[in-house]
Amino acid sequence: MSQTYRVLVAGMGKRGQHHASAFAKNPRFEVAAVCDPVPAQLEKVKALYPKARSGADPAALAKDVKPDIFCFCTPPHIRLPLIQTGIASGARLIAYEKPMATSMTEAIEIRKAVQAAGIKTVVSHQHRYGPHYRAVYDVIRSGQIGRVHTVYGTAVGWLMHLITHLIDYMRSYTGNAEVEWVMAQAAGRGKFADNHPSPDYIAGVLHFAGGIRGQIECGAGAPDVPEVEYWWRKNRVGAQGTEGFAEALTGGGWRAITKSGPQSGGGSMDYDQDMAPYVADIAAWLDDPQKVHPCDGEQAYKGIEITMALIRSVVERGQVKLPLGPGEPELEALKRIMPDRPVLLSFEGSRKEYPK
Ligand SMILES: NC(=O)c1ccc[n+]([C@@H]2O[C@H](COP(=O)([O-])OP(=O)(O)OC[C@H]3O[C@@H](n4cnc5c(N)ncnc54)[C@H](O)[C@@H]3O)[C@@H](O)[C@H]2O)c1
Repeated sequence: MSQTYRVLVAGMGKRGQHHASAFAKNPRFEVAAVCDPVPAQLEKVKALYPKARSGADPAALAKDVKPDIFCFCTPPHIRLPLIQTGIASGARLIAYEKPMATSMTEAIEIRKAVQAAGIKTVVSHQHRYGPHYRAVYDVIRSGQIGRVHTVYGTAVGWLMHLITHLIDYMRSYTGNAEVEWVMAQAAGRGKFADNHPSPDYIAGVLHFAGGIRGQIECGAGAPDVPEVEYWWRKNRVGAQGTEGFAEALTGGGWRAITKSGPQSGGGSMDYDQDMAPYVADIAAWLDDPQKVHPCDGEQAYKGIEITMALIRSVVERGQVKLPLGPGEPELEALKRIMPDRPVLLSFEGSRKEYPK
């Protein structure tokens, strides 16, 4: 009989609840512990997992429960300390939320720690499981648009919320090509006050090995996606090749033109739909080390490295070569140099999020 993996979930807000629910629905997992320092958050979920231990302190709970999987879904400010808690717990895999780190130095420390411990990690870029993202992936990777020369991603939400999603899917459409250099510009200080601290807008180019060009925009100045109503899902990710193009809209299906003609289909980002295969692939990877999870922490490292390179480009001016070493926390450096000028919007629908 297959092993059941015992999971501790820390951070029982929106995403922690999604994770716990997806693990609980899959018979390969048991939710063994739920954790949150805010009692009201714990109270919301305790009744749903009557057999699970609960508490405010992830380290103490982990000592008791000895989970196979240490999962955390906290806001971005706490990453490395919880990775260390996960390693100390003896878990075989740490599953955590994007963004994987808030600076390049933190990302490097996380990678070193998990590699030294020999522990697997996955980071939740789960939109890729949507049928529309998968359809576009299949069209592109089966060669129907010819040789990919351009990938692009836009999102009206701000950088620390959305840019690593865009980068992860853009990279997957290139076959996970390496980025060699980037260049970017940014505007607007408003979202530095958010719990996902960010410039209001960033736009950049990514130069991939093999000459593939990436174009990325995130935030107030990113273009509207008029096909999609729901503001947070106004994201467009796609690729152009020598024989066609294909793209997915986070909240609005997909379309492609290939040498055999037009194709299109539905699909919208949906947490229930996307989390089920995301956790199933965690069991598959733990069962068989050859079945590396598509959201492997190594891919998330590449995504945060590209993100931090884009920010360094704004701060330092000019092109930034990858790979990156450690350095000054990039968002703090950006905040220090960013002029206090209101960001300009690309459409009025973004005004409520970028009011001045
Ligand atoms: N993958 C996605 O599609 C997606 C979507 C939304 C949010 N996110 C990411 O998920 C993360 C969490 O977002 P959310 O919307 O669930 O936030 P949330 O505010 O709803 O929940 C966060 C929870 O973490 C708890 N917490 C804070 N510090 C903690 C600690 N040290 N130990 C244990 N718990 C702690 C808080 O009390 C809170 O209950 C963020 O990094 C966010 O970017 C990802």
